[in-house]
Amino acid sequence: MTAPLKHSDTTVVDVALGDRAYDIVIGRDVLASLGARVAALRPGVRTAIVTDKTVARHWLEPAEASLAAAGIAASRVIVEEGEGSKSYAGLEKVSEALIAAKIERNDFVIALGGGVVGDLAGFAAAILRRGVDFVQVPTSLLAQVDSSVGGKTGINSPQGKNLLGAFHQPVLVIADTAVLDTLSPRQFRAGYAEVAKYGVLGDEAFFAWLEANHAELFRGDAARKHAIATSIVARDERETGDRALLNLGHTFGHALEAATGFSDRLFHGEGVAIGMVLAAEFSASLGIIPQADVARIERHLAAVGLPTRLQDIAGFAQEGLADADALMTLMAQDKKVRRGKLTFILLEAIGRAVIAKDVEPTRVRDFLQGKLKA
Ligand SMILES: NC(=O)c1ccc[n+]([C@@H]2O[C@H](COP(=O)([O-])OP(=O)(O)OC[C@H]3O[C@@H](n4cnc5c(N)ncnc54)[C@H](O)[C@@H]3O)[C@@H](O)[C@H]2O)c1
Ligand SMILES: [Zn+2]
Repeated sequence: MTAPLKHSDTTVVDVALGDRAYDIVIGRDVLASLGARVAALRPGVRTAIVTDKTVARHWLEPAEASLAAAGIAASRVIVEEGEGSKSYAGLEKVSEALIAAKIERNDFVIALGGGVVGDLAGFAAAILRRGVDFVQVPTSLLAQVDSSVGGKTGINSPQGKNLLGAFHQPVLVIADTAVLDTLSPRQFRAGYAEVAKYGVLGDEAFFAWLEANHAELFRGDAARKHAIATSIVARDERETGDRALLNLGHTFGHALEAATGFSDRLFHGEGVAIGMVLAAEFSASLGIIPQADVARIERHLAAVGLPTRLQDIAGFAQEGLADADALMTLMAQDKKVRRGKLTFILLEAIGRAVIAKDVEPTRVRDFLQGKLKA
């Protein structure tokens, strides 16, 4: 990884993975360069664009037009939007369509969409003919700053999320900040929780910058590009180092997502926002972070309109959500449990996250019990 290169309005992050190195191109309207970049990578390549219905309505034609202008053939595979497509049935549909489109070993699969399409199309590319190269065109903020970086692809099993998958690095990522203009404000905010996470876990200066510039970032343009590029670099650097820190807020967050049935009641990023605040408050209850830092994290997430408290979740009072034991059971099913102890990412300050490998479940339970009464 080298520092972002400035090409006028476009930032190119060069992900250094030896012979799998690739570029992440970030900027307003960079989708228009898709065709030329694909043609430069592999002249004469055939492509298939995998996308979902909503994204297709907004962005499929511009993507196809860019490819056509560069003389690149493209077929289209359109799935239903939503997590349900990350399934055996969704994988079958995409795989069969790619075979029917005669995508061969040297061709490209292009994932045009959010994390669902990226994970699904990436996995289909990983197994098609034992591996076909793929291009990521992430269209949600979450996909741009998180799921399109790191090479993880896959689908869900009826028994759990992301249980089937493969590591498959893209050959190119095009993160166009303008495509986010059609994303719903709520989806945008949910993705923003992951952006804020990079500041909270390792970069106080970035967090302060977000506090000052979030409104401009939500509006678009230069601040948005800077935030996305900074997040991508932070994410990529963690990939090869202290990867676990990326789970900040996620142990609590995943339990909340599970408790709400992975439904529209709580988007992933919203669970992460609440989870980050809980992780900060839990750290404060252990006396390792100043209370002022906790308040600052909550204040910022609330300022952009994210939920920050358990009580902010729709229907919170009903069901198992208001039950510390039920949440503990869900957390115990998380991957981060070893021999009865929980691994947590805790905070010593904004910008300083640490891994705690032997957190006593009773401490977490008592903490949650207190929060639920609050
Ligand atoms: N591979 C990884 O490392 C990784 C990391 C984090 C999350 N994920 C996965 O990512 C998925 C979540 O991603 P997501 O939040 O992008 O969800 P998503 O792909 O379902 O997109 C959210 C919604 O926004 C719509 N949408 C996307 N881009 C749009 C645009 N530009 N304009 C209008 N609508 C648009 C989609 O149609 C969808 O309805 C989950 O399945 C999660 O497991 C993977
Ligand atoms: Zn996440």
